[in-house]
Amino acid sequence: MTSRAHSSTRRGSPSASSRPRRAGWRTAATSDRHELYEASVQSPESEVDFIDQAFRRWRGRTARSFREDFAGTMYLSTTWIRRRADHTAIAVDLDPSVQAWGMRRHVESLTDAQRARLDVRLADVRTVRCPKVDCIGAFNFSFYLFHARKDLVAYFRTVRRGLKRDGLFILDAYGGSDALVEQEEVRDLDGFTYVWETERYDPITGRIRMAIHFRFPDRTERRRAFVYDWRLWTLPELKECLQDAGFREVEICWEGSLPDGSGNGIFRPARRGEACLGWIAYLVAVP
Ligand SMILES: C[S@@+](CC[C@H](N)C(=O)[O-])C[C@H]1O[C@@H](n2cnc3c(N)ncnc32)[C@H](O)[C@@H]1O
Repeated sequence: MTSRAHSSTRRGSPSASSRPRRAGWRTAATSDRHELYEASVQSPESEVDFIDQAFRRWRGRTARSFREDFAGTMYLSTTWIRRRADHTAIAVDLDPSVQAWGMRRHVESLTDAQRARLDVRLADVRTVRCPKVDCIGAFNFSFYLFHARKDLVAYFRTVRRGLKRDGLFILDAYGGSDALVEQEEVRDLDGFTYVWETERYDPITGRIRMAIHFRFPDRTERRRAFVYDWRLWTLPELKECLQDAGFREVEICWEGSLPDGSGNGIFRPARRGEACLGWIAYLVAVP
């Protein structure tokens, strides 16, 4: 059994190891929780690379139009916009405060031409009405907030209706035996420590309460900076829900391993996984 933690990929940041460490420069009082979140768990360049690869594999072309569901600070949507001059994005989130933060952080620095290609929607992903796109992405397990199968399938149906005929829906999932244990996963990043805690897991309902804490070298802490009340969906359940929502095929992309057993950040289509302690996978759903 390999011991692959979330830290190998996006619930950990590939950028962390490449950044100069300036331990001590952050404190709870001076840090911004959205900035810390992005530095800890988002890697939008890798996500855009993955979308490119999946699109080439399934459609023999690159995607142009992208809709980011649960877009949060729009880090991924704005990375998509910057990647190619013909890229367009629709960023959907229902929290005005996170969107306002993202506007200041990522949107204001776009050129006018880039800004014109971004459509920011303050809306619920279940009811948003947008032009159909090549690709819809839902990342960092955001759809785990749907606890009931019928609600998850209803969301997936909405996604399918939002895709062009030759589009793709790309989402991610996590799991592994560690995910079922009430414990903390701790990683030292750039001047702060990221803590991903399973506060509560109920095996009867599958309900899981996750919290992100940030700790600082001066011993201050941002406790429960983000808290999630999720259902811990399994890959076969997600696959079946996507099929019930009308997706013709669902491809699971599993991460390769480094010699020490940790993830290498390269996700390839797979029919069998490994019983890792912690894993992240991508799903590519084909309408
Ligand atoms: C876990 S964050 C994901 C942020 C980012 N996309 C990422 O990959 O890390 C979940 C986001 O989903 C938003 N959200 C929750 N329910 C939503 C809904 N029904 N419709 C739209 N956005 C929703 C929240 O406001 C929050 O910004």
